[in-house]
Amino acid sequence: MDPIAFCTQYARRPFRKWSVTPAEWEILHVQAQNRRNILEIGSYLYTSSLAFIAAMQALPECILTSIDPVHRDMDLRDDALQRRWLRIIGYSEDVMPQLRPHAYDLIFVDGVHNTPAVMGDFQRGLKLLSEGGTIIFHDVNHWKIRKGLLEMYPEDRYEWHNSTTRSKGLAIWRM
Ligand SMILES: C[S@@+](CC[C@H](N)C(=O)[O-])C[C@H]1O[C@@H](n2cnc3c(N)ncnc32)[C@H](O)[C@@H]1O
Repeated sequence: MDPIAFCTQYARRPFRKWSVTPAEWEILHVQAQNRRNILEIGSYLYTSSLAFIAAMQALPECILTSIDPVHRDMDLRDDALQRRWLRIIGYSEDVMPQLRPHAYDLIFVDGVHNTPAVMGDFQRGLKLLSEGGTIIFHDVNHWKIRKGLLEMYPEDRYEWHNSTTRSKGLAIWRM
């Protein structure tokens, strides 16, 4: 799957800039396989959203919910896919407590990049995660985020995907 080709084909907006790297995009795309309910915190340029949406083409039941306080235009050409992408304008600390507990099998955290915020998103995410679910964190090369993760669980509870850039990087936590 080529994300730029996907975006050109499916979105009514050209793909200009990467937030997650192409290698990270592939990992997110693979992690979305066989999921039913995905929650994304921090959608910004929609790079990560598109990785999930690309996977959702083959998952007709799957719904993506994206939370971000800022709305940026990004419509999909496919109306059926668009209906399965719920965008909530708001802050994760306000929105997550209102979502259905244990309803999400994949949560992607890429919101506020400081230690208390990532720990807060992790703690709220644990309440929303279904049995056997997965939480993925972005920008884990950033020390403030890594510190938050290590305050929650020891290093060997995560699968680390380090990026070559100073920030970026993914950590996958499985229940
Ligand atoms: C690093 S960007 C996310 C990049 C995105 N995943 C992508 O692929 O383009 C961080 C985003 O978090 C959003 N944000 C800031 N505070 C937030 C909060 N409290 N809850 C959820 N999102 C937040 C910002 O508006 C910004 O869009």
